Amino acid sequence: MSPQSTIENGGLPASLQSQASPVDDPQITIGGRVLPTRYFLAPLAGYTQLPFRTVIRNLGGLGLATTDLVLASQLLSGSKKSRELIATSPDDRPLSVQIFSGHTDELVRAARHLERAGFECIDINMGCPMAKVNSQGGGARLMCNADNARDTVARVVDAVKIPVTVKIRLGWDRESISAPILAREFELVGAAAITVHGRTRQQGFHGTVNLDAIRATVEAVKEIPVVGNGDVRTAKDALAMRRITGCDAVAIGRGALIDPWIFKRIERVTQGNTEPFEPTVDEKVDFLQNHFRAMFVHRGIYSCVLFRKFAGWYGSRLGIPEELEDRLRRFESTCEFDQIVKQIRLRHGERKTSVPTALVKLPNGPVERW
Ligand SMILES: Cc1cc2nc3c(=O)[nH]c(=O)nc-3n(C[C@H](O)[C@H](O)[C@H](O)COP(=O)(O)O)c2cc1C
Repeated sequence: MSPQSTIENGGLPASLQSQASPVDDPQITIGGRVLPTRYFLAPLAGYTQLPFRTVIRNLGGLGLATTDLVLASQLLSGSKKSRELIATSPDDRPLSVQIFSGHTDELVRAARHLERAGFECIDINMGCPMAKVNSQGGGARLMCNADNARDTVARVVDAVKIPVTVKIRLGWDRESISAPILAREFELVGAAAITVHGRTRQQGFHGTVNLDAIRATVEAVKEIPVVGNGDVRTAKDALAMRRITGCDAVAIGRGALIDPWIFKRIERVTQGNTEPFEPTVDEKVDFLQNHFRAMFVHRGIYSCVLFRKFAGWYGSRLGIPEELEDRLRRFESTCEFDQIVKQIRLRHGERKTSVPTALVKLPNGPVERW
């Protein structure tokens, strides 16, 4: 993504964040797979690759991670990019691979390919708002034709033995909220779970999530889990999402970039631990260092470029002085990275650690590139 705009990022409205957490089984089963928690990492193209998933898992509390969206045709041709996107490790479990295409045949073949390669779950993207994807009939465009969408899911489900899930938005625009109907249709043809981002394609990333429409989607399905998604930034938000919508699980995307400890915080709260939790300075700086090192193992020197975009998300929560955050956006070598980290350790405390409440970078509207 090239961040082109910013919008306010306050999480869910304060009036919705109150009190009680849903008390229930911490585990959830999707397609026969038992997942350790009900709080998942939502796919974020350009971010949620193996290094990030690994360091987030190591902090605890994560139930399931999903890869960035992978173009089915690229997967089938074995492109370098698609191999990087599905790179994984034995510890990187539970994992789902998200695929997208406007061509059902490609999705079917990609699903078989992934099953043969040993992956345990496939997620079909029906939420991507990118013009490039939608114009080929993929992403959110698939939601515009219910019959076609249902047939697509049915064919992928029939093609493999592993569970197939679907990630959708509420619909194309305000006038066509199709998520509840589609979720039920997908359930009938064998989808193992549905994730619903509570915005329409038209909204892009603007406006607020529509919790009522997520709730309507939850109520439309009979058996399978529905995963609520959108604007969850704190443990309170996550519990409010579950309480208000009745969803079985919650997927968190940007909230994990803003606060990598969000899954651990949720786990603590759901276990009844009300003591405030704050990682130590060393834990914060170690996290930064571990993420870069994990990236370096996979991407070598190019990590110096790839890591830069994380700086803006991490800076505030990790308490990185602004001038050093700025240097993290521009560094060119591992040596320079090490110098910056050394400085962060020395100067930590100059910037007050906080959860950013505004100006988080986002793709601009539904038609831009990530
Ligand atoms: C930079 C960026 C990349 C994204 N990439 C994907 C993707 O690859 N697949 C997908 O289904 N959704 C993608 N999304 C949407 C997120 O998974 C999620 O639905 C959305 O950001 C709302 O949740 P959040 O407020 O927790 O981030 C992306 C969002 C952002 C901001």
